[in-house]
Amino acid sequence: MSQAFDVVVIGAGPGGYIAAIRAAQLGFKTACIEGWKNPKQQLKLGGTCLNVGCIPSKALLASSESYEHVQHGLEEHGITVGGAKLDLGKMQARKDSIVDKMTKGIEFLFKKNKITWLHGFGAFASGGEGGYTLEVTNDGKKETVQAKYVIIATGSKARHLPNVPVDNVQVCDNEGALAFGTVPKKLGVIGAGVIGLELGSVWRRLGAEVTVLEALPAFLGAADESIAKEAAKVFAKQGLGIQTGIKVDKVTTRKTGVVVDYTNDKGLAQKLECDKLIVSIGRIPNTDGLGAVTVGLKVDARGFVEVDGHCRTNLPNVFAIGDVVRGPMLAHKAEDEGVLVAEIIAGQKPHMDYDTIPWIIYTSPEIAWVGKTEQQCKAEGLAVRTGQFPFSINGRALGTGQTAGFVKIIADAATDRVVGMHILHAHASDLIQEGVTTMEFKGAAEDIARIVHGHPTLSEVVREAALALDKRSLNS
Ligand code: FAD
Ligand code: NAI
Repeated sequence: MSQAFDVVVIGAGPGGYIAAIRAAQLGFKTACIEGWKNPKQQLKLGGTCLNVGCIPSKALLASSESYEHVQHGLEEHGITVGGAKLDLGKMQARKDSIVDKMTKGIEFLFKKNKITWLHGFGAFASGGEGGYTLEVTNDGKKETVQAKYVIIATGSKARHLPNVPVDNVQVCDNEGALAFGTVPKKLGVIGAGVIGLELGSVWRRLGAEVTVLEALPAFLGAADESIAKEAAKVFAKQGLGIQTGIKVDKVTTRKTGVVVDYTNDKGLAQKLECDKLIVSIGRIPNTDGLGAVTVGLKVDARGFVEVDGHCRTNLPNVFAIGDVVRGPMLAHKAEDEGVLVAEIIAGQKPHMDYDTIPWIIYTSPEIAWVGKTEQQCKAEGLAVRTGQFPFSINGRALGTGQTAGFVKIIADAATDRVVGMHILHAHASDLIQEGVTTMEFKGAAEDIARIVHGHPTLSEVVREAALALDKRSLNS
């Protein structure tokens, strides 16, 4: 007899494991099928985010930033530290132990919430309104389970360049790029998106000469133009070589390195010789082998499971969340969709606001935004007013030495409602939440301007930016 569950989640990344936990909290008999295998062939929970995404990248970003800071960031404080040495093995081991702690933490949460972890790869075998039969395959062995509700949370994988095999030794996607055993002398990166900038920064700080090749003519087109322009200047000063408007013609792997033949923005043929190459050109959804055709699950031409605004698929009682569906490929978006779906299954009426999902790029300084960019407002014909304030004259920023960047607030010209907030600063990731909260509560720039902000804090810059909308900043 196969096991029967109320809810079966396929995939245990941030979308899937959170959905499983919330479903279990709501009293459902819940299972989660997870097919992730690490190089040691052990099944692991946590998905991309915990194993080869958010968590290991942030660990390396923090370690590499400390290394750079100790070398170059302490002199202005009157501290001289000589002989800083890099032990990359130890740095990588620290990262691995954080990943291990986090993935084991989910195992603990599964046990605590009595969630059954079904080890293996899940696929629909049959089903409809009355329930579904899912097949779980692990090392050639198959078992079947029954589910009243199914939540698909199978995530995404790195997109590769056509005809350029990724061996994760010389040509790497995120998996290999997080695991270098030595610092490459010369590192090439294709794609100046989030991964390219974050991992490019890690290896630059540790000593690599990094060249990032970007196809689009504009740098960071998704960000507000003023932020992108300022960030490009700061990154150039740090020594991160970014070329936009390029076209990759050929990638050749040699015994000792990789050669990228490309055409630059002036139409000239160029060659980039590097020891290693990171390909970070976006991600594609994991729907292969899921049995979509067997049960008639609608998947679009790019492989995304089709869902409505509440993550319902075309099949009764089947939902899909996270990277495998439309919307930003972000862990917090996946998590919130997980909660949303579990609560819908429980008969609640939850709501998720897709307009207030923050984006954060963990470079130094960090880039964070929520809502619309000024160029987006222009394109939509929305009349707006903007206010901007720099960190360079903020007492707290001066105290810590983290003075680069600014806050920009965009408000509807007619109603003063905040429609976007954009921050470039070392602590932009935390500061942006004020913008998220304001927008969620449909707040106005004037609300931010009239709220008491602690002193001395970086958040005072957010308030000053709100005051700047009416040219009444107090400290400039
Ligand atoms: P995933 O995390 O991809 O998990 C899907 C899981 O499903 C996997 O474990 C997979 O093994 C499993 N699976 C797939 N198919 C099957 C199947 N048929 N049967 C069983 N199991 C299956 N986002 C942020 O918000 N902040 C960050 O700082 C951040 N940093 C990132 C850094 C990098 C280098 C990368 C690559 C991504 C980063 N992301 C970040 C994005 C984030 O990792 C994803 O948005 C998030 O992991 C999506 O969660 P998910 O649950 O939808 O899918
Ligand atoms: P991305 O979509 O952020 O950036 C890809 C970049 O590659 C784009 O600028 C694109 O124009 C460029 N590109 C595409 N094809 C190209 C080509 N042939 N040649 C040169 N350039 C090309 O994708 P990335 O960096 O791979 O990250 C994937 C996703 O993972 C992100 O979009 C994000 O959703 C998530 N992520 C989130 C992080 C965070 O929240 N801090 C960190 C890392 C990843």
